[in-house]
Amino acid sequence: MKTLLLDIRAKAEDALKNANDDAALEAVRVGYLGKKGELTAVLRGMGGLSPEERPIVGALANEVRTYIENALAEKKKELEEKKLEAKLLAEKLDVTAPGENFEIGVRHPLEKIETEMSDIFRSMGFEIAEGPEVEFDLFNFQKLNIPENHPARDTQDTFYITDNILLRSQTSPVQARVMMDTQPPIRIISPGRVYRADEVDATHSPVFHQLEGLVVDKGITMGDLRGMLETFAKQMFGENTKIRFRPHHFPFTEPSAEVDVSCFVCGGKGCRVCKGEGWIEILGAGMVHPNVLRGCGIDPEVYSGFAFGMGIERIVMIKYGIDDMRLLYENDLRFLKQF
Ligand code: PHE
Repeated sequence: MKTLLLDIRAKAEDALKNANDDAALEAVRVGYLGKKGELTAVLRGMGGLSPEERPIVGALANEVRTYIENALAEKKKELEEKKLEAKLLAEKLDVTAPGENFEIGVRHPLEKIETEMSDIFRSMGFEIAEGPEVEFDLFNFQKLNIPENHPARDTQDTFYITDNILLRSQTSPVQARVMMDTQPPIRIISPGRVYRADEVDATHSPVFHQLEGLVVDKGITMGDLRGMLETFAKQMFGENTKIRFRPHHFPFTEPSAEVDVSCFVCGGKGCRVCKGEGWIEILGAGMVHPNVLRGCGIDPEVYSGFAFGMGIERIVMIKYGIDDMRLLYENDLRFLKQF
């Protein structure tokens, strides 16, 4: 019986050595210590032993049981440690590894120039006014001295939504809205999107941006318009920039002018940028027409004012030497990152 017990101990020891997971450990426990286990069977058979032999074999059997139990516990601990180690190894984090790069965005050239333009006018005391892009015919045309069937409507190919609602074709309706809302003194600019049913090409887009300006007060003259536009031109294109007015016609200003700046590349001698002219057209302007003032509730006998409007895309293209407007809308990062 003694050899049988020692034999069981050796076999259990062997089995434990090869047990490499929880299931194998459990199989060893059941196989030796379980109800039908080998050691249990020996203990059951002790009834047949003589009174002298019984305590000796009993003591040895207990010893073997304790031995197997301890060995099981130890092996279990060993397996758990191995498992933890494998887990830690799999989750290893190298805090010294270089970080992942992410791209830092840049401001779109249109937004950049719009901000620059707004800052210049704000430094001259202009406030920013806003108007809706979906606009009434009333503000886009009628209040601006452009009645129904007026030929000036043809020069701005307009997207109509209904007979009297449209996508604004210019930022000038904001002039009418501001004048109807506030009494002078008025000094506002209004940058924003405008829409015209134009085919897309290098210089046209059905959606583009304008910046409108309006000043109304007592005693405002064309000299004030000239002075403010000159200040703007010098800050935008350089200290040596000159401006010139050419007579023009807009229904909502009288007199009206198109305004050019001297070419900031050649200084007026003529080059590729100004197409040999020495001058570059940048905006339309004029003194607010008395009909417009009156129609918006401002007495033209008391007040006078000037207005101007310019295309922001145009200023961006001139300033950065961009010859195709479509580049501004394609969102090609290789292009946009240059500004
Ligand atoms: N709204 C005119 C245009 O889009 C520009 C303009 C604005 C002209 C204000 C004079 C005064 O062509």
